[in-house]
Amino acid sequence: MAGAQSGTDRHFMFDGCDTVALAKKYGTPLYVMSETLIRERLREIRDTFLERHPWTFAVFASKAFQTLEMCRMVASEGLGLDVVSGGELYAAARAGFPCDRIFFHGNNKTIEELRLAVEYGVGRVVVDNLYELEALNAIALERGMRAKILFRVTPGVDSHTHRFISTGQLDSKFGIPLDPRVRGRYIGAALAMKGVELTGFHFHVGSQLLENDSHLKAIEVVTRLMRDVKADYGFETKDLNLGGGFGVRYTDADEPKPLAYFTDAMMAEVRRRCGEYGLPMPRAIIEPGRWIVGEAGITLYTIGSIKEIPGVRTYVGVDGGLPDNPRPALYGARYDAIVANRCDGPRSRVVTVAGKCCETGDILIRDIALCEPESGDILAVFTTGAYNHSMASNYNRIPRPAVVMVREGRDRLSVRRETWDDLIAREI
Ligand code: LLP
Repeated sequence: MAGAQSGTDRHFMFDGCDTVALAKKYGTPLYVMSETLIRERLREIRDTFLERHPWTFAVFASKAFQTLEMCRMVASEGLGLDVVSGGELYAAARAGFPCDRIFFHGNNKTIEELRLAVEYGVGRVVVDNLYELEALNAIALERGMRAKILFRVTPGVDSHTHRFISTGQLDSKFGIPLDPRVRGRYIGAALAMKGVELTGFHFHVGSQLLENDSHLKAIEVVTRLMRDVKADYGFETKDLNLGGGFGVRYTDADEPKPLAYFTDAMMAEVRRRCGEYGLPMPRAIIEPGRWIVGEAGITLYTIGSIKEIPGVRTYVGVDGGLPDNPRPALYGARYDAIVANRCDGPRSRVVTVAGKCCETGDILIRDIALCEPESGDILAVFTTGAYNHSMASNYNRIPRPAVVMVREGRDRLSVRRETWDDLIAREI
């Protein structure tokens, strides 16, 4: 597993830190993020995408893991940010993130959110519907400004992923259908507006994709759109945002390909199609989330109850679960884990790791081989860096875990653990 090595005392080491010591110091459940692994991914984007392909840009889809510190890290590596709500936008601005590098997404942005976007001067608002287009135009005009926008379009391609995280198919709440009768209304309207400036198009086909075919099919569809809108409206696409969705390794069953497997093929396809249609190359943008942070995070739990049901299964209870990681319950997501305090031991016992919620579906990992778990052991679950902290809830009034950032043997608190008082703080 990335960033892992076994310490001399059988403890699992993550980015040079003893995870058992981290559990003791900060308590459990605990999200641990490796700064080294995050920065490695950000630099891989720079080396294999931004530098290899001129006239490109990359943004981090912050819904995957947004903290102030993460925003600052992304800013320091020169990338942009994808936000999908006023809350994410506000936090990014509070982190000092340069707002002109922000792409603001969302299928139903509120008037308040659009006002904030104009006030902050976000780089691009990715417009998803006519209601938003008209509202944004009015808000910008009111302030004597012109907001740069992309249209999010629905390329109508199916991706091979869980249907809850597939977004590019025709029947989707996201994006503008490419039916000429529909798209004409949008493009005609936008080009006539003084408060918005259309600069291009965006699509996102889905998430946790291990093959590049859906991206390539979407490029085929969207470059045809570029050709048609140039013919019909004389509109030349300047920005083409190709979305994220690049998959990571959760268990040994996943075989993720390197980023360049996606981006080289995608750029070749954009070049080929633009050449064929006589279009100038647009600025190409990618916006990965999971690929940047997924494998950079682990979650540490303390094992409590161990319940053997003879002939059925053994339930190993941990002190977190669905509130800190809803993905197994939501998507049937699979995870791998080890007993962190005996990380070199034989994985000889098949058990089911259960969370502590009052919910039958709160099972973190069904049927996993572990090194004979005992109460008091620390369990390290891998690849929890994306869509765990950001999707955490307080179901059953369980406080959300702290986030600790580790780097080459040093650790620091990045987000403190919620307290029981935090849980009632908003109540009157
Ligand atoms: N751009 C847009 C417009 C998106 O909608 C998304 C993800 C991304 C980029 C980043 O996708 P990524 O590179 O992380 O795959 N909660 C689900 C994932 C939902 C993703 C939604 N959109 C999960 O836990 O699997």
